[in-house]
Amino acid sequence: MPLARAGYFVQDASAHTRFKQQFNTKPFLFHHQLHLHELFGIPAIKKLAARLAKEKSPRGFLKLLNDPRRVQWGSPDFEKAMAEAFDNIDSSGMRLKLSYIHLEPEYGGILQQCCRELDELTSGELTRNFQNPLATLFISSPHEVTPYHVDSEANFLCQLYGEKVVYLFDGKDPDLVTNRDLEQYWGAGHISLNEKFRSRGVPFPLRPGLGVHHPVHFPHLVHNGRLPSVSLAVAFTPVLEPSDVFQINYHLRRLGLRPKPPGESQRVDAAKRASARLVRSVKKVVRGQRGPHLKLR
Ligand SMILES: [Fe+2]
Repeated sequence: MPLARAGYFVQDASAHTRFKQQFNTKPFLFHHQLHLHELFGIPAIKKLAARLAKEKSPRGFLKLLNDPRRVQWGSPDFEKAMAEAFDNIDSSGMRLKLSYIHLEPEYGGILQQCCRELDELTSGELTRNFQNPLATLFISSPHEVTPYHVDSEANFLCQLYGEKVVYLFDGKDPDLVTNRDLEQYWGAGHISLNEKFRSRGVPFPLRPGLGVHHPVHFPHLVHNGRLPSVSLAVAFTPVLEPSDVFQINYHLRRLGLRPKPPGESQRVDAAKRASARLVRSVKKVVRGQRGPHLKLR
């Protein structure tokens, strides 16, 4: 597919139509060239992982067959476990998430460029209604499965290496996702797929240079192929974030109240978002964490 101009995302007429019509409404495939960037080659990613493994507060998570969850992120044992997981990626059963990679200056520049291009593709919808762009890397061993879950962001998942199939479910289908399900997920961390609806998952096979868009709260699960897989998530939080409202509603319901779902009252939603933000800020201060976000506008 020819490039209309140099950039990370293919911006031909059909891409513009798809992004404009389906962004945050329906999943769709798109073409990108991020896999050709040297900072997304395996040696650069391994170096980045080794650097982040030294940080004192966790910059993601690492799951292995021989799970080192009790090994503290930032400790010499953790650095060793991370390096060994990479060296034995075919057999280590690794699922590594590297969060906020845009805090590293060289990756921050890439995210800024992605934001500009995606904003153009969505005809400005990103800057109007979304904020806090995030860049996250997912590195995993062959045949690993990421369980069914939802995310609070609108995501552009870009495959960089290997193959995987993302099964996306319609987040507007009341058989699959209800407000109560989302309260439960954001309040207690649980959401499950009713097996009788498994076939409703639409498969999006990814290979390097292909990506899939996930609208906010569209459930998904991921099956890796026969090779190790590396994917980059470029994600954006809605300005009117529903996950904070669901989280507060979960706690209000446990107190015996019947809270309004998001969208019924802007004033009530705003108060719930402010409460959720306050709780998060206090937690960050207590943990001594840095703010992870870039400005979108
Ligand atoms: Fe996800």
